[in-house]
Amino acid sequence: MMEKFYRLLYPMRVCLITSKSGEKDNLMSASWVFPLSMDPPLFGVSISSKRFSHSTIKEGKDFVIAIPEEWMVDAVKICGTKSGRDTDKFSESGLTKENSAEVKAPSIKECPVNIECILENEIVLGDHSVFVGRAVNVTKKKDDFKGIYQSHKSPTSFIEV
Ligand SMILES: Cc1cc2nc3c(=O)[nH]c(=O)nc-3n(C[C@H](O)[C@H](O)[C@H](O)COP(=O)(O)O)c2cc1C
Repeated sequence: MMEKFYRLLYPMRVCLITSKSGEKDNLMSASWVFPLSMDPPLFGVSISSKRFSHSTIKEGKDFVIAIPEEWMVDAVKICGTKSGRDTDKFSESGLTKENSAEVKAPSIKECPVNIECILENEIVLGDHSVFVGRAVNVTKKKDDFKGIYQSHKSPTSFIEV
């Protein structure tokens, strides 16, 4: 009963989180992403310590929250099921990285919104860490877009909202 208790809160918007450690760029799908403060503008991303992104965010000290559109659902599945430890998920998903304005982590060209964050804090909570990022630049390419929402049924089932 308690095993998948967090799915009671679903559907949740899915984001793509990019990071860079040394020369290695990575990205992963994440739905545990939330605003934390308006002033200063802080966002939280809860990431399991098992993820490669957990170490690349810690090492690189910044990350980008990119919002994918509905048509990018296949790329979201790839980024949420394969690990950057052994896969170049940019080439596998077909997503294009582009330089961010204020952080080392890349932005994603196809995403209508990219939120560039500097890592301010890591709060270890059980088997996840909440990485707290201060938004230092936002690129918004359009106002009207449909995101991707993870359903309660399985990690890779999505619903329209
Ligand atoms: C839709 C979706 C949402 C996900 N949300 C999260 C999340 O919020 N936090 C997390 O730690 N993993 C989440 N995952 C799992 C990671 O994306 C997955 O383990 C990924 O392979 C990690 O990649 P990495 O090892 O390159 O960091 C999600 C997966 C999917 C498909």
